[in-house]
Amino acid sequence: MSSQRDRPLNELLLDACLAAARVGAAYIRSRAGDLATLDWQHKSRADFVSEVDLGAEGRITDVLLDMVPDAAVLGEELTPALSPGDGVTFIVDPLDGTTNFLHGYPHYAVSIAAMDGTTLVAGVVLDVPRDVAWSACRGGGARRDDTPIRVSDIAEPVRALIGTGFPFKDLGGVEPYLPQFARVVSQVAGVRRAGSAALDLVDVAAGRFDGFWEARLAPWDMAAGTLLIREAGGRVTDFEGRDIAPGHGPVIASNGVLHDWLLAQLHSPRAESLQPSHPLTVTP
Ligand code: IPD
Ligand code: CA
Ligand code: CA
Repeated sequence: MSSQRDRPLNELLLDACLAAARVGAAYIRSRAGDLATLDWQHKSRADFVSEVDLGAEGRITDVLLDMVPDAAVLGEELTPALSPGDGVTFIVDPLDGTTNFLHGYPHYAVSIAAMDGTTLVAGVVLDVPRDVAWSACRGGGARRDDTPIRVSDIAEPVRALIGTGFPFKDLGGVEPYLPQFARVVSQVAGVRRAGSAALDLVDVAAGRFDGFWEARLAPWDMAAGTLLIREAGGRVTDFEGRDIAPGHGPVIASNGVLHDWLLAQLHSPRAESLQPSHPLTVTP
């Protein structure tokens, strides 16, 4: 008879990510009616933390360490400077989309990934308002609840829907961002900025976005979504096209087919690239 101990480590870690994400999401949901009285603290310009972020991270950490006592936890609010070691490290964003949450804008998530040494092996992004669990296990594909998901196969920029994140914390990032935005928006069907990087990456994994870029993300923003996209058949790299591990830095994600095109748009400005690749005739 099989027991929990016979199951592969990746699956056990996925179970822990899922259980912890559900506890975190239930707590966040229970506080969604308290917005008028919640205290927000500034971490930096336009970067807030509330008692909900802290309370969710505490509860998530308790579940993870209860289920995997030897693990380390790298969490955005409580243990952001932890360096992963040789064993299991969980990477936790207890509330991705804090600004959305604080404004009652219903687009935010819990994001939890597990690394075995330096390898991403499990990840969950739990969409809190919609109560949908997006998950992936290394080598086991990616899922929306129990249903397998795949990236899109859109290959023409003119049909593509692209996600992005604005450089709102470091305003020095705005100037280099604007030409990138101009090149992309002038060639695609649409660009969206919804305010949760973890859910942006889910949207690429699920084939709803065909690509995504943001100049600076943190490991907790990207870890689970990166595994989801790779397991769903897509690519996640830096702005030079190198596969990335969770860290602080730029992220480009795509369905794979549009990756090199998106990379090219984010590099040095070229006047001709401001022209749509498939010019549309517009009748006023
Ligand atoms: C932020 C969101 C946002 C992204 C920022 C992140 P937080 O995370 O993911 O979409 O643009 O870079 O910091 O602060 O809400 O957890
Ligand atoms: Ca985040
Ligand atoms: Ca957060």
